[in-house]
Amino acid sequence: MDHTHEEFYRVTFDLLTCTFAGASDALHAFESHAVEHFEQENEWMEKSLFPARDCHIAEHAAVLLSVREVGEGFTSGALGLDTVHDLAMELFSWFPGHADYLDSALAAWMTRRNMGGTPVVMRRSLRA
Ligand SMILES: [Fe+2]
Ligand SMILES: [Fe+2]
Repeated sequence: MDHTHEEFYRVTFDLLTCTFAGASDALHAFESHAVEHFEQENEWMEKSLFPARDCHIAEHAAVLLSVREVGEGFTSGALGLDTVHDLAMELFSWFPGHADYLDSALAAWMTRRNMGGTPVVMRRSLRA
């Protein structure tokens, strides 16, 4: 999960910094990542009967829908590069809360079920 989350930041950063010419590739790269990322977590939740799975799965679906709408809008010319960059900023503001509350709860649930303990959560402080 940590490795996948590092990749999330990489593809989102590419989306934020892409040029007009690179936007289609960046959108496709983000969507491919998100499909794999979300399907993996959805499968873990279904298999382990994670209690809050409906809300977590719905959040994944809503993000993917937004990404696809922006992708289709950009391809058709209805949306510009600024919307692609806005999407990346929205993803950057959405993700920490999602990872902190929903993904970490899933990680704790699976670790408790599989190993009988809870994982150590390490957070970087922005303050010195
Ligand atoms: Fe995740
Ligand atoms: Fe998630």
